[in-house]
Amino acid sequence: MQSPARNPRSSTLRLAVLCSGRGSNLQALIDAQRAGRLAISIELVAGDKALAPALRRAEDAGIATLALAPKSYASRAAFDADLFAHIAQSKPDLIVLAGYMRIVSPDVLAPWAGRIINIHPSLLPKYPGLHTHQRVLDAGDAEHGASVHFVTAELDQGPTLAQATITVSADETPETLATRLLEHEHDLLISCVEMIASGRVTATANGIALDGTPLSAPLRLDADGSLQRIAS
Ligand code: GRF
Repeated sequence: MQSPARNPRSSTLRLAVLCSGRGSNLQALIDAQRAGRLAISIELVAGDKALAPALRRAEDAGIATLALAPKSYASRAAFDADLFAHIAQSKPDLIVLAGYMRIVSPDVLAPWAGRIINIHPSLLPKYPGLHTHQRVLDAGDAEHGASVHFVTAELDQGPTLAQATITVSADETPETLATRLLEHEHDLLISCVEMIASGRVTATANGIALDGTPLSAPLRLDADGSLQRIAS
């Protein structure tokens, strides 16, 4: 993987965001940009569902949108090739998968290595895939959380930049866990994009470096919203 081919300290980070549904993480990015916290411009919000609320949120914010229907394509590879060709036209520095519910073909990912991140509702490498909140409860875990990781060909398994954690209570349901975790997801995603925009993060084939020093473990989101190294 390579780090973004730009000088992020001196310019606004151009984003393309992929969403399939509600779009609360997208909204968190929009709100943080508007509040002056994030030096980003969201150039495109794209997805696989024309009726996704995320696309309406983007339209409301004056952001260009694109919805492509997978059923209109002969194969997953053809759909992904067209989608990522459109994404490339928006010239993003960073692609953010924020609730994008499709597996992406390795072929289209390759050119974006180190420039595409995903937010996932578990403490990866635990619980890649779906139903993470239920799986945490089934396992009796005392702790749950969310991860922001760089995307590779393996589902939810690229190098993790940072995580936010919550404690699992005795009377928890998958719904309460999801609701409580979501606001931490928003803070985590904003902080990760902020850090990437600052130019401090480098993603390579060997992993992630922060300020030139390899990350031996994912950063942790503090209560005050800042990302901290933790001892490995
Ligand atoms: C979030 O839980 C995210 O971690 C997962 O899908 C959900 C998307 O929520 N990948 P939203 O569409 O951002 O509200």
